[in-house]
Amino acid sequence: METIDLVKPIEDIQQDFLPLKGTDHIEFWVGNAKQSAYYYQAAFGFELVAYAGPETGLKDRVSYVLQQNKVRFVLTSGLQPDHEVSQHHVLHGDGVKVIALWVDDATQSFKQTVERGAKPAVEPTTISDDFGSVTFSAIHTYGETIHKFIERTNYTGVFMPGFQAKKGIEAKPIGLQYVDHAVGNVELGEMDIWVKFYEEVMGFKLLITFDDKDISTEYTALMSKVVSNGNGYIKFPINEPAAGKKKSQIEEYLDFYKTGGVQHIAIATHDIIETVGELRKRGIEFLYVPDTYYDDLLDRVGEIEEDIQPLKDLNILVDRDDEGYLLQIFTKPVQDRPTVFYEIIQRRGAKSFGKGNFKALFEAIEREQALRGTL
Ligand code: FE2
Repeated sequence: METIDLVKPIEDIQQDFLPLKGTDHIEFWVGNAKQSAYYYQAAFGFELVAYAGPETGLKDRVSYVLQQNKVRFVLTSGLQPDHEVSQHHVLHGDGVKVIALWVDDATQSFKQTVERGAKPAVEPTTISDDFGSVTFSAIHTYGETIHKFIERTNYTGVFMPGFQAKKGIEAKPIGLQYVDHAVGNVELGEMDIWVKFYEEVMGFKLLITFDDKDISTEYTALMSKVVSNGNGYIKFPINEPAAGKKKSQIEEYLDFYKTGGVQHIAIATHDIIETVGELRKRGIEFLYVPDTYYDDLLDRVGEIEEDIQPLKDLNILVDRDDEGYLLQIFTKPVQDRPTVFYEIIQRRGAKSFGKGNFKALFEAIEREQALRGTL
């Protein structure tokens, strides 16, 4: 009894030291931000809202800010070969550099996490313009990735001081709502190190563990643990490779990204049939699961509101847990290297991650790896 009484308040304190209001934005460091910005507008239906670069007083880099409902992406490129962003691109290709978290107090977020062992990346900094001020700070996480803490209390500008409003092509949104989860791949043996980091440094809790029995096919395997913050708004699954007969997708990622990094970003929609239908029309490619997946789908997941035919036509997967079901689909990598990809997810009660689809998805990824000669 005493133990329970003692442990409970400590858990509450751990949840409180880093209150997170959501994902503020995700920043990609890319080779050609101007062209990437067009891809996200034309294919994913984002609206170009802001820009920073030489024309706005930023001499060494450009950034484009894109928005669709609560999903905000920043695309950044360096302008000289020795620039940090250019060097990052040479080594890693296009990839996620920053997962920015929305907080009430970026100074405290920095102090609390650094005190608990986080490696500082950016000291708390306040920048201002006519629309108010934004305070930010950052700490390192796996690979070259950082978490920025963004405090934008009372800021009424378009994104941040230093950025100017910018319009692009007419936005045709496809119903992307918010970032559901962001998954990291780490080196063999590092998963538990990073789970511990999120638990001890950021006050997250371990939500679910998947071992190689859950996530394996005849050839390849991986292990995954999901950590989540106190209010559940932020969920980070972390994968590491497991022993298999052939090279796992995680090893392939690490071979090409050259370090741990973000593997996929899951974006929520309220109408996955509409969202995926539009993405397919606009040329986005998805992983393919065989038609036989749908033969006994209803036996596996029970009654669902959607008709099977459009799900089958679009190759959307379904899984059920104790609380409901979810629909999901995965794109192929969205840059030349087989690294970052997207998941589109619609939750109908389920809070899980589609464990029942892992095998079918793994086999689909293996078919892609075989085509690339990397299996
Ligand atoms: Fe996912």
